[in-house]
Amino acid sequence: MRELPGPTAPPRPKSPAEARGEALFQSGEVGCARCHGGPERTDKQAHDLQSGGTFDTPSLRFVGGTAPYFHDGRYPTLAALLADTDGRMGHAGQLEAAQLGDLQAYLRSL
Ligand code: HEC
Repeated sequence: MRELPGPTAPPRPKSPAEARGEALFQSGEVGCARCHGGPERTDKQAHDLQSGGTFDTPSLRFVGGTAPYFHDGRYPTLAALLADTDGRMGHAGQLEAAQLGDLQAYLRSL
């Protein structure tokens, strides 16, 4: 069965927090867009993040509503995922609490 296209989100301007989060997501220092680039936020490549094997980069569309996260659902929230994956999946560990909030606001907007 082919993947069904997701519903189109009604266009709305980004909130300031979402815009700050997007800048972090796209930045080389945090490095999310390296794998989660393009409109679907995936490079469609497989990576070994030491999460128990090699997995395709998932699309991040609607990710705010698709918890739990990772192939085995090990992370109940985006906050838990970001707190545990620094160095293996981008570099969110260097971010301050407010920046982590911005990054999550952006992820929930996708
Ligand atoms: C080296 C490539 C790579 C980078 C860089 C990367 N990711 Fe990922 N991401 C993946 C892969 C592969 C998975 C799936 C891992 C699994 O299921 O075990 C994933 C999973 C996720 C998930 C869970 C999606 C789901 O539905 O389960 C989120 C959220 C996510 N990444 C966000 C981020 C954020 C935010 C950053 C930057 C801090 C980032 N990723 C950087 C490759 C990457």
